Amino acid sequence: MPDNIAAKLLHWYDASARVLPWRARPGANAPEPYRVWLSEVMLQQTQVATVIPYFEKFVGAWPDFVSMAAAEDADVMSAWAGLGYYARARNMLACAREVAANGLPTDEAGLRALPGVGGYTAAAIAAIAFGQRAVVVDGNVERVVARLFAVRDPLPGAKPRIKALADSITPEVRAGDFAQAMMDLGSGICTPRAPKCLLCPLREDCAGFAGGAPEAFPVKARKPASPQRYGTIFWAERDGKLLLVRRPGKGLLGGMRALPTGPWTDSPPGLTGAPAAADWRMLDRGVSHVFTHFRLECALAVATIGAQEAPQGEWWPLDEIESAGLPTLFAKAVRAFGRR
Ligand code: ADE
Repeated sequence: MPDNIAAKLLHWYDASARVLPWRARPGANAPEPYRVWLSEVMLQQTQVATVIPYFEKFVGAWPDFVSMAAAEDADVMSAWAGLGYYARARNMLACAREVAANGLPTDEAGLRALPGVGGYTAAAIAAIAFGQRAVVVDGNVERVVARLFAVRDPLPGAKPRIKALADSITPEVRAGDFAQAMMDLGSGICTPRAPKCLLCPLREDCAGFAGGAPEAFPVKARKPASPQRYGTIFWAERDGKLLLVRRPGKGLLGGMRALPTGPWTDSPPGLTGAPAAADWRMLDRGVSHVFTHFRLECALAVATIGAQEAPQGEWWPLDEIESAGLPTLFAKAVRAFGRR
């Protein structure tokens, strides 16, 4: 039966594959490894529709490992702005430099050793770029497999079992197409809510469908609520220019250009950590943003900075603020300050 599942899925993929800029047509030669690597890094925590324009921009600016390896860190970080999870961009650049120096490994274990390439990404590159049989399990695939086999144990504990089940249906040939077919099935048909089972090529094989409640899978353990933290974002202006800083390399939004902030704390920190002595005024509105491990609520403080102050950072022309490459939290703040 497992062979049968792969054959049905590949047959469906031949007719229904999404056309995406990093993909080959079903059955065609594999796409360039650089494009596969770049797309998989971008897709790690970001949706396909968001990734497409970033992918086009990146391959336009840096068409291969060698050109990305030679790029300025700041240019790459700015180009990444808005994609989130900025450690990915730093690791991506480190990876490009390693590959430009030593070449790209072509097996899963070698790929896994590269910066920013985890188990999922290594398997995806091995399968999609090099046609190797590798078991590629992302969130979409997890859902498809949990339904197909009606896996009752909750995630995340069920991950090893789901991976073993995915292994049991992965074919020897067309591993890249199979992996991407599973992703397409998960994103277009086997959706989290209201799956379109009547269109599914695996309906007859699906234990979740047979049981009458495919949506009940995957079963998930309850997550603890993420903590609420507070901060202040400072709008420091002088002569039509805004003070921007570069955030420290490690930590939240590390290496990104940003508006100055104070510390993130468990209660609103007010003017602690202001970038200069000034007549700060707190606005009556703030901005909030959800990060992976906490929710952040920021107050907004505004001041004009006198000529006697020499705060750390760079003065950025306000009418060019869009080109600063600010991450989403600070782009939201610029809008909330009412300046764009
Ligand atoms: N998500 C992660 N990798 C993907 C790919 N290659 N195609 C579509 N969605 C994906």
